Amino acid sequence: MIRNTTLEDSGYYAGGVSSEAAWMEGGVVLIVLDKPSKPKVNGDTDKMIDTYAALTCSSNSTSAPDYYSKLVTLSYTWFVNDTKMDGETDETLRFQVTRAHKYNRYSCEATAMELESYRSDTVQINPLYGPLKIILTPQPKLNRFYTLTIREGQTIGPYQCKVDCNPPCNKTWKYKDSSGSISVISKEGILEQQRLNRNISVLLCEAKWGNDTVIDKSITLDVQCKF
Ligand SMILES: *[C@@H]1O[C@H](CO)[C@@H](O)[C@H](O)[C@H]1NC(C)=O
Ligand SMILES: *[C@@H]1O[C@H](CO)[C@@H](O)[C@H](O)[C@H]1NC(C)=O
Ligand SMILES: *[C@@H]1O[C@H](CO)[C@@H](O)[C@H](O)[C@H]1NC(C)=O
Ligand SMILES: *[C@@H]1O[C@H](CO)[C@@H](O)[C@H](O)[C@H]1NC(C)=O
Ligand SMILES: *[C@@H]1O[C@H](CO)[C@@H](O)[C@H](O)[C@H]1NC(C)=O
Repeated sequence: MIRNTTLEDSGYYAGGVSSEAAWMEGGVVLIVLDKPSKPKVNGDTDKMIDTYAALTCSSNSTSAPDYYSKLVTLSYTWFVNDTKMDGETDETLRFQVTRAHKYNRYSCEATAMELESYRSDTVQINPLYGPLKIILTPQPKLNRFYTLTIREGQTIGPYQCKVDCNPPCNKTWKYKDSSGSISVISKEGILEQQRLNRNISVLLCEAKWGNDTVIDKSITLDVQCKF
């Protein structure tokens, strides 16, 4: 009788009236089951949106003997935040990445012979995406010609340029003067209060992401001169 079985007790047991007999009769293998090792979630977590993420739950059976443990098939359970995901029982969890995936925490458990492993540490996807639109706050009060009326000498701003990108976009405030040439005012997201020169015709915030993606939002000015 083996009590308080430990993994070391696993192995081949045989008995008989003599040792020769013991070798002849054939014995039994005592398999000691233990829960699988605490899994690690592996996979590339920096993913462009609309591509597929693949997270793999990697754990090992720790049952003994070793040669038995290699034959054990593990089954898997996936969790998002702390909620079990329905129908996700594969070693690899695949899904299409969206912006919203940023906040989800994924983890998994491995199970063998009804023994559950500890829960893995959680991982988060870092979804990469460029800008879609720029929002200026406060919203400029445009007239019916969609331009902003200001009197010469009046101040304008401050305006904040908001845009959702990951990693964050580089934002630049610029102005265009009446000759069409463009100059940089500020490399921050905020346009401080400005007293504008009368020959400035357009203010714009430009959001740049990587080398290829640039969008902007402009305010066309209607500067009314003092007489
Ligand atoms: C088995 O282990 C428990 C806890 O370690 C101990 O209290 C108990 O006495 C042990 N039983 C035997 C038969 O060794
Ligand atoms: C599982 O075993 C393999 C080979 O022994 C080892 O490389 C790997 O790190 C183990 N994985 C875990 C999650 O313990
Ligand atoms: C997980 O939790 C985060 C933060 O609490 C939440 O934003 C997100 O929507 C949750 N995800 C799901 C799938 O419930
Ligand atoms: C705009 O005004 C500034 C300052 O008065 C002047 O230096 C600049 O040449 C003007 N630009 C144009 C295109 O008129
Ligand atoms: C913002 O500009 C810095 C410095 O030029 C650059 O290293 C970084 O990659 C830019 N960020 C984005 C999202 O393009």
